[in-house]
This record gives sequence, C-alpha cells and structure tokens, in this order.
Amino acid sequence: MSAQMSDNALSRRDLVKYGVLASAALTVPLERVVRAKNASDRIAVSKFPKPFTVPFAVPPVAVPTKRSSTTDYYTVRMRSAATEILPGLRTETWSYDGTFGGPTIQATRGRPIVVRQLNDLPATHPRLGYEAWTSVHLHGLASLPEYDGYASDVIRPGEYKDYHYPNAQDARTLWYHDHGVHHTAENAYMGLGAMYTLHDELERSLPIPQGRYDVPLIIRDAMFDRDGQLLYDDSGHSDLFGDVILVNGRPWPVMRVERRKYRFRILNAALSRGFYFTLSTGDPFVFIGTDAGLMPQPRSATGYRHGIAERYEVIIDFSRYRIGERVVLKNRGVKNVVDYDTTGDVMAFDVVSDPTDLSGNAIPDQLNPNAPAMDLTEAMAQRTRTFEFTRTKGQWTVNGKTWADVLESNYEYVWADPGLGDVEIWKFVNKSGGWWHPVHTHLIDFRILDRDGRPPSPWEIGGKDTAYVGENETLRVVARFGPHPGRYMLHCHNLVHEDHDMMAQFRVGPPSDEHHPVFADPAKPQPGPELGGDDDTL
Ligand code: C2O
Ligand code: CU
Repeated sequence: MSAQMSDNALSRRDLVKYGVLASAALTVPLERVVRAKNASDRIAVSKFPKPFTVPFAVPPVAVPTKRSSTTDYYTVRMRSAATEILPGLRTETWSYDGTFGGPTIQATRGRPIVVRQLNDLPATHPRLGYEAWTSVHLHGLASLPEYDGYASDVIRPGEYKDYHYPNAQDARTLWYHDHGVHHTAENAYMGLGAMYTLHDELERSLPIPQGRYDVPLIIRDAMFDRDGQLLYDDSGHSDLFGDVILVNGRPWPVMRVERRKYRFRILNAALSRGFYFTLSTGDPFVFIGTDAGLMPQPRSATGYRHGIAERYEVIIDFSRYRIGERVVLKNRGVKNVVDYDTTGDVMAFDVVSDPTDLSGNAIPDQLNPNAPAMDLTEAMAQRTRTFEFTRTKGQWTVNGKTWADVLESNYEYVWADPGLGDVEIWKFVNKSGGWWHPVHTHLIDFRILDRDGRPPSPWEIGGKDTAYVGENETLRVVARFGPHPGRYMLHCHNLVHEDHDMMAQFRVGPPSDEHHPVFADPAKPQPGPELGGDDDTL
C-alpha cells in the first residue's frame, strides 16, 4: 500500500468525495459534508496491518445439533464476542455463534433445515443504545413468510425463534444476515452476517472446483475508533464507508493457492460500499454463478461491478502463474462511494505449489441449461409495475412511501399484489445522479431484461435476486411470483437506506392471514422445547 491517509488528515481524493473542495461542495448533498467529523475519532492508519500479512481463513462450517431422517437441526446463538480483527486489539463484535465472518451452513437440495436462533446479545447496543432486537433473513431462499426474517418479526434479547428452510431450490450461494427493523445496518455492521451454501446433484456432477477449491469470500468494509471498536457513522442516514477491507472477517488477507482453478463465492456484505473488482495481472474472472446459482453458460470479464448483497461465483485460474507469484484482488471503486487509499486492495493470492489434486479443474461450456428465471421472457409477463427509489425530505422511499406505511397499516399496505404464479416485469427506477441502489426482492429470482434499454452485463446473465440500479438507471426485470403466497419485502440493500426507510412489501396471492409474517410464528422466550424433539433421530 502506498501513501495512506493519516488519521487526522484527509487526502485530496477524500476531500473531493466529502464535498469539502469548493467545486464539489456545490453539487454534493449537504449531509455528505458531515462525514468529515468522524475522521478525528478514527484509529490511526498505522494500527492497520500491512496488506497481505494476515493469513486468509475460510469461515468454520456449522455442525448440526441434531439430524433426523428428514431434517437437519442447527442451534445458533447470536452473541457478543471480543474479536481480534486489527492485530493486538479486541473489538466487540456481534455474530452468529460468536464467529465474526461465519459459520457457514451447508445444505443439500431436498433436505430441509431448521435453525434455532437464540438472541443472546446484550440488551442494548454498547454505544448506540438501541434495544438489540434481531430478525434473521436467509437471503436467496424462498422461505415461508413467517420464516423469512421479515423486518418487524423481531427476536428480542432473551428470545429465540426456529426458522424453517425448505431448501427446495437449485444449488446456489446464499447468506443469512440480520434484518431487525430499523437496526439492520448496525446489527449487520457488528457482524451478523454469514454464508449458506445450497448444493444439488447437477452442481456436484459438474467438473467445476468443489470442496477445498470452492471458497467463500465475504467482503465488506469497516471503520474503527481509537479504542479499536467498530465505529458506526452513517453520515446522517446517508451511507457508511469504512477504510478497512475485511475478507471473511480479516483485513486484507493473503491466501496460499495451488497452480490450478479455484472457485470463489464472492459476497459483498458491506452496508453501503460497491466494488469494482479486478486482478492485478489483468487476467479475467470467469463467472459461473449468480445469486440464483449456476448460470446457463460461463461468461468472462477482466473486471466487474459488485453491488451489496449480490453473489457471484467466479473461477480464477492460478495455473497461469509461476510458483512464487502474487495475484492481488483489487477494487477500482464505483461511483458515489467514498474510497480511501486503503480500499483499493482487497486480498492477495500467493501461488505456492503445483496442484495436489486436479479433480474439478474445468469450466464446462454449459452449466445449468435450466437456470432459474432464465426461461422467462417479456412476452410471458401479465403486467409491468414501476418502483421508484428516491430520497424525499430526508427519507429514502419507494414510490414515495416507506416501511412506516407498512407499520401504520398493521402490515397490510402493499406496493404490489401479483397472483400466485403470475409473471411480471418490474421496473426499478433511480432518477438520482448522486446515489445508486442495490435493489433486492425476497422470495423470487428474476432475470434482468435490460438496463436503460441495453442488455445486462455479462456477469449478470443468470438468475438474480439483487440488482445494481446505478445512477439515473432504469432496470427491467422479469420474475414468476411464487412458490409461496404471502407478504414479502422488497428494498434497497444499502442497509442504511433500508433502515431509513427504503423498504416496501409485496403480497403474492389474495389477502390472507395464513402465514402472517409477524403473527404466524413469533419469537418466544428462551429456553424453548427441545429442538426437533418430536422428530425421529438418525
Ligand atoms: Cu439480504 Cu431483505 O435482505
Ligand atoms: Cu439505496
């Protein structure tokens, strides 16, 4: 890393972004200027580890508490833990089972999982003071409404909730993360986010990298205060941009790799930061999977834009390099984020040996011919709906309304009400030149039809549940609404925007209180009955 920003001085690049320099100040919204205040609370950059000195690690894999003939049961405790993120400092984190950047749950298609989530967090956030309620969303799974992590279906400290996951969909990369109403951003920032992989026969039969060559990369940013604690500053509910890049919870790690192909499941778990990833060698990434799993065909690009909550499965072929070479995963940055001198590097791969195993070292021309949502066409759509993502009077809104309208209506108000099985085109419209929004729909996978009339990027040609709606962009996506009826959220996945209050809901099928997202199966006080107690054990 070259010249780093010192803790008190802002680089010129930062000043431009902050809008402190005169020309920018006129065009940048006022709330962006307040950002500079946190510079003096921040830890000195000299306390950061040198890039690529911290060893890379894969998050631990969760172990079932119990397995019955039909179901796997897991018990996860959301709790506070002192975690060494920056060398020599103890940072309070909130995470699943106390593991910052994990544990990964591995599922197999057709075998349901029940996860008991216990909220053992402190009663209130140590610095922000809010009550530590949570809700757990498994992002990418079609769960029933009452198990979908609906924002207002909260688990308060001392309570638990059993989430039921059918795992009926195609193999894919998912993640579970906090969704507690109005505190999703703070909770996720503290560490409540982890990966979940769903496998199936097609995926296992392909000669693509598997097992130890199939590696999760959960990438996010963070900032730290002088005591080494996570510093939360969303600049007046605008966004949060940290100067430390974490991969699986570790700052700028280095991974030792063999001279062969690896598959990386890359998740952007940041609150507000978008990335534009490249490799220091200029070599391409080969994309094999999107949010909804394997793409119809592989695609390649030498760089790509990765919005919040999107997942891309990419192959990097290290057989091109000599032993001893280092390949750096770089971030070129996207518009309307604050980049620091320290955010251009993500992690490094050191090529250390010839391959010890050459199984799964190929990229077939056909991956999943029936990739979810990819068979949907414009002509199949029954109707088109438009969703405008705008900032109105300091609030982030969808068509001028917010989650407050849902609360006021006692969860009844909906932005859209497709029939079960209907195909619809949804238009996501961002008329702002100053913001971009990663738009996420629960329940369904969609196909991106076009962006401002142009085809989607090569890496987006697969089933998606989250799409980058850039500045002044209009995206059209097509989806089939199902498999479950009920109420589901649709929101901006910039979690600061989501909390304040850019979150809407849609209802599939007619109004019904069956599977009510809040009342059907609410959290209960701990301890609950034995998990899976009435189920026959293996
Ligand atoms: Cu990843 Cu509604 O969230
Ligand atoms: Cu947004």
